[in-house]
Amino acid sequence: MPIYVQGGWFIGALLFIFGLKGMSSPASARQGIVTAGYGMLVAIAATFFIPGLQNLALMLAALLLGGAAAWISGKKVQMTDMPQMVAIYNGMGGGAAAAIAAIEFAKGDSHSLVATSLAVVGALIGAVSFTGSCVAWAKLQGVLKKAHRLPAQNAVNVVLALVSAALGLAMIACAPAEPTLILGFFVIALVLGLIVTLPIGGADMPVVISLFNAFTGLAVGFEGYVLGNPALIIAGIVVGAAGTLLTQLMAKAMNRPLSNILFTPMVASGGGEAITGTMKELSALDAAAMMRYAAKVIIVPGYGMAVAHAQHKVWEMTAILEEAGVEVKFAIHPVAGRMPGHMNVLLAEAGVPYDKIFDLDEINAEFGQADVALVIGANDVVNPSARTDKASPIYGMPILDADKAQNVIVIKRGKGTGYSGVENALFYTDNCRMLYGDAQPMAGEIIQHLKTMG
Ligand code: TAP
Repeated sequence: MPIYVQGGWFIGALLFIFGLKGMSSPASARQGIVTAGYGMLVAIAATFFIPGLQNLALMLAALLLGGAAAWISGKKVQMTDMPQMVAIYNGMGGGAAAAIAAIEFAKGDSHSLVATSLAVVGALIGAVSFTGSCVAWAKLQGVLKKAHRLPAQNAVNVVLALVSAALGLAMIACAPAEPTLILGFFVIALVLGLIVTLPIGGADMPVVISLFNAFTGLAVGFEGYVLGNPALIIAGIVVGAAGTLLTQLMAKAMNRPLSNILFTPMVASGGGEAITGTMKELSALDAAAMMRYAAKVIIVPGYGMAVAHAQHKVWEMTAILEEAGVEVKFAIHPVAGRMPGHMNVLLAEAGVPYDKIFDLDEINAEFGQADVALVIGANDVVNPSARTDKASPIYGMPILDADKAQNVIVIKRGKGTGYSGVENALFYTDNCRMLYGDAQPMAGEIIQHLKTMG
């Protein structure tokens, strides 16, 4: 390969790595994603300089079509729909890796044993990731509403995995493989992705998407080796490693082993500890007064704040409170919302400075000294049953200790449960008051009252 093409790919790969480094902090994340985007641009541009390239028109048409679709969908997507967008893009990556492998197998060119083996493994995980990510998209988009579980689900998963592995081994042993063998291998791999993902519930889907993301990275890396393309190898390894770490972090934050997420459905049990007490309401005026005359307020945002697009009003309210001498901090649970970093992104978008935003480990000890914990559209991440109720599906999940504050105010629309479907014992405690309504107008009402308090 000419040095200028290799050089272009190398620069592209470097930009991916710098981009990922930038994404490690909210302050530099925006720049990081732009840097990685430039990396992709350089890598694609370099590819066009490969000598003797054929199908240039087709390549350009694919670029235009894909680029336009990504541009339009990227501009239009709502923040709350981001997980399904990630799922579908991720599926496309896995599908592309599997398609590259399919073309290589169909060409029947002879490759080394290592290259053929990597192509088969890449094809398998790329195909699984493609159909699995499509199911994940359909579930999060509400197209598929129910989890579909076969009678002997785990046995079916194992049989399909073994058959696809056996067909893959046969393809390596008989390379170049017969078209029927190649077809059979891909059909089983695609069905495996569907069957494994269909029974997994929506609440676990972000973890599954992250896992498929890691798979896609590996598949792309393996196919990069087969094609002799270092940019694909490096990008694939970077995505594979980042996806694996993220999957582990999310599973840990939900206190659910990955095997449990993949093979055991999460159900809201009817049993468990009985909740006593009643939910007590308060007015926006009372909420404003409690916070205005508090020394310290900790705000816990959750999925409901994202749905209501309330982050700008919440920041406006914070600024008024701070001006009045109240110390205000934000407490972020690692799985608050529906994707990693969901709350951080929204608060950053509203202009909340990073030094006011604290992770669970940093802030939990401070709830005991807070006069008010203001919970805005969060539910599962502040549910104390996770500490005590062994029958609860969220038992063991680390939670934000909002219940330890002197007073708790919860803004939510009604008596809806959180994503896990379980009741929240916090809402019934003596120190908790409910402010019913959509988070955005409610924050707006609090602001109006605060302004009259001077
Ligand atoms: P949830 O437990 O989902 O609770 C959100 C609450 O917001 C609901 O109880 C809902 O109650 C309220 N709400 C909805 N729309 C609202 C609006 N417009 N205004 C005010 N309130 C509104 O949220 P959470 O506490 O952020 O927890 C996240 C959940 O997602 C966890 O169970 C977590 O395990 C799961 N999950 C997250 C991730 C990631 S990576 N973030 C990944 C996998 C799973 P009403 O209907 O009564 O308003």
